[in-house]
Amino acid sequence: MEKKVSSNVVWHHATIDREAREKLNGHKSVILWFTGLSGSGKSTLAHAVEEKLYEMKCRTYVLDGDNIRHGLCGDLGFSNEDRVENIRRIGEVAKLFVEAGVISLTAFISPFRADRDNVRKINAEGDFFEIYCKCSLDICEERDVKGLYKKARAGEIKEFTGINSPYEEPLNPELTVDTGSESLEESAAKVINLLLERGVIQK
Ligand code: ADX
Repeated sequence: MEKKVSSNVVWHHATIDREAREKLNGHKSVILWFTGLSGSGKSTLAHAVEEKLYEMKCRTYVLDGDNIRHGLCGDLGFSNEDRVENIRRIGEVAKLFVEAGVISLTAFISPFRADRDNVRKINAEGDFFEIYCKCSLDICEERDVKGLYKKARAGEIKEFTGINSPYEEPLNPELTVDTGSESLEESAAKVINLLLERGVIQK
């Protein structure tokens, strides 16, 4: 996608940069990008990981699909075009969080591979962790926490992911967690281990 830049704007370089903030915080700033079907447990897992990071005195922030669609992306619907724009905006916001020295955890279906890859591309290598919350449509539909699958099956919601709008599985995610079968504790521990292994945080 072509990058849009306003005319007559000049980038201002901050004296307090990312490196300084990371030093102050005692950890690296990265994006933990949770992707998966609605009801696969992205938000629940993101918040569980955030709690663990908080206990480890890390600076974090969760960007959650349903919440962001109440404000920043409240003008967007669920057409392919709007989902692309949704993820583009969140990608840019998450990038700002990286500059701010924060570990951001994003919980969006983000159904299209190309959009997730674009977010990866606008960030430096090693800053973007794609975490696939793998859970079958059957299980998500059985859980139906928000009652939306029922509505989609009844034809009340058009373009519902997994029913009549596609979800493209990640091909090479940094981590896959089987949120359909493993416990929240197990999945959260896997994410924390990954961050320890990659030197993002320290014990
Ligand atoms: S995304 O596809 O653009 O990444 P996002 O994560 O922001 O989606 O929002 C998904 C949430 O919006 C779902 O968890 C669900 O609660 C709600 N929702 C409402 N309509 C739809 C729809 N047609 N498809 C998927 N989710 C929907």
